[in-house]
Amino acid sequence: MLDVMKIREDFPILSNSDVCYFDSGATSLKPKAVIDAVTNFYTGYTANIHRGDYDTSVYVSNKYEETRNKVRNFINAQYAREIVFTAGATASLNMIAYGFGIDKLKKGDVILLTKLEHASSILPWYRVAEKTGAVIRFIPLNDDGSFDLKKYEECFKQNDVKIVCLSFVSNVLGYVNPIKEICAIAHKYGAIVNVDGAQAVPHIKVDVQDLDVDLLSFSAHKMCGPSGLGILYGKLSILDSMDPYMYGGGANARFDSCGNILLKKTPAKFEAGTPNVEGVLGLGAAIDYLQGIGMEAIASYEHQLCGYLIEELKKLPNVEIYNPNGETSVVAFNIKGIFAQDAAAYFNRRKIAVRTGNHCAKILVDIIGVNETIRASLAFYNTREEVDHFISVIKETTLEKCVEAVL
Ligand code: ALA
Repeated sequence: MLDVMKIREDFPILSNSDVCYFDSGATSLKPKAVIDAVTNFYTGYTANIHRGDYDTSVYVSNKYEETRNKVRNFINAQYAREIVFTAGATASLNMIAYGFGIDKLKKGDVILLTKLEHASSILPWYRVAEKTGAVIRFIPLNDDGSFDLKKYEECFKQNDVKIVCLSFVSNVLGYVNPIKEICAIAHKYGAIVNVDGAQAVPHIKVDVQDLDVDLLSFSAHKMCGPSGLGILYGKLSILDSMDPYMYGGGANARFDSCGNILLKKTPAKFEAGTPNVEGVLGLGAAIDYLQGIGMEAIASYEHQLCGYLIEELKKLPNVEIYNPNGETSVVAFNIKGIFAQDAAAYFNRRKIAVRTGNHCAKILVDIIGVNETIRASLAFYNTREEVDHFISVIKETTLEKCVEAVL
């Protein structure tokens, strides 16, 4: 069991603020070790990587590549070359849509999505469909938004599916999709699986070899690391066959005046331009930090805390919960008769930070029936006392207080 009070001492913001931060699904707080790793780059060894013939550049280049190997170890990829650094999970997902979708799909090929997905996992495929003539189909889900493997397999019997794109953990409902089984079925029919892991990798142990997943995207900033950095994991054979969507320095071995380009090997061919070096060094510190606590301990603590919040919410007759069986650290709910954003304005007055709205999953309304929810997304640095405070604030929330908070 992790010691949450000790963990809270690692996060400088928690001693500078008395806000109950329940928006870790949007971005996580940062421990001092990560802040130091970024600061040390600026104060101790600023240099570009893979380009400088001097000690600090070599030093930073080595640290950058060491972090690639830390990421490999963290998700148990087979090779460090299967890890590409990008500008964020959104950039990773777009890179796949461009390099795999637009380049390889043709008229009539089917792309399977779900209605739970975040915009970053849907919109790139709408563009792919428009440009290639490929067809989007949505996997039918259960009424509560959970995944049904039988309905999923039916999709392959009726369609020429080439790629399945879905989240590991929904950013609104927190369900953990059965990715291992999803991959096994897709592979049986010759399709690949492209997973948005942004809400999974920070919260549960992910082993890409065990899952046999083909592509996995996630963001550093949701896992205690810096913003502006994403990770694209891909099986080497897939990454090798994909074109980068950006061209530039660092990604080519040579080019000539006739327009010929020789790209470097994976992953360098995907990392044109000066990368987010300090972000990568910060991510390395974040991985060390998370591994120091242990992903199993984090998952178990968050699951218990979230379960406690759900159980307490269930006792309140004026609260409607959209994921009463949520499996990770996200709860989506509404207070009956109060617009979600108005409730959040009152929570804000009472020092509680949550996100409201559709959370970028704009067609999830087809499943849960409402456009707007209050989302509390917890993390391993949240406490039971914070949850108790939240529940007491929800109990005292009235329409009048919310309207007054908005004015
Ligand atoms: N994708 C992030 C969220 O779910 C920003 O809040």
